[in-house]
Amino acid sequence: MSTPLDDIPIRKARFGDARAIFQRIKAHPEELVPRPLSDIMLNIDRFLVAELDGEIVGTASWAVLPELDPDKNPSIEIQSVSVRKDLQTRGLGRRLVEAAMKRVAEFRPHQIIVLTFTPPFFAKLGFTPISKETILYKLYKGCMNCAKYDNPLTCPEVAMAYTPDPGAAS
Ligand SMILES: CC(C)(COP(=O)(O)OP(=O)(O)OC[C@H]1O[C@@H](n2cnc3c(N)ncnc32)[C@H](O)[C@@H]1OP(=O)(O)O)[C@@H](O)C(=O)NCCC(=O)NCCS
Repeated sequence: MSTPLDDIPIRKARFGDARAIFQRIKAHPEELVPRPLSDIMLNIDRFLVAELDGEIVGTASWAVLPELDPDKNPSIEIQSVSVRKDLQTRGLGRRLVEAAMKRVAEFRPHQIIVLTFTPPFFAKLGFTPISKETILYKLYKGCMNCAKYDNPLTCPEVAMAYTPDPGAAS
């Protein structure tokens, strides 16, 4: 890894960041599901951003997934993880996802889930592959709005999960 980007601050997003977040997500059409600006605005409290010289260069967000089992807390999906191309492989993606994981662990989710085309990156962060069948109803909301693939079970994204240590959350 070249020089780590440890000094780029990661902070909670604000409404004024929404357009930049919109463009940042759109910059990865192959890897990320595009999100309407209105969706970003309405979920701005579920975004973290990395800002460098006034520009949003990284994003991570999350969504609470439906849970039918009354004995389980909902799971949370980490979404829209993006690092500007020229800044990749310098630890910023890891910092963004770890910050999002730390934040959502405070809600005591059953699991933290990702659907990703980059399983090795999430494996480095402790995620392990799971069967999509086990989380299908949880993914229904997101998958039914997908315009890229017609069936979540044949979509090439890999489902992965991380179970937070309840003692580690503040
Ligand atoms: C995936 C992404 C967020 C990674 O960000 P990044 O800043 O390059 O990642 P980091 O430098 O923090 O990498 C953390 C670790 O994962 C590894 N890693 C990162 N991307 C990887 C990849 N594509 N394949 C294999 N390993 C990868 C790094 O080597 C590093 O390993 P280390 O801790 O042993 O050094 C970035 O490449 C990106 O924005 N991609 C486009 C959008 C995307 O695919 N988002 C994820 C889907 S939700």
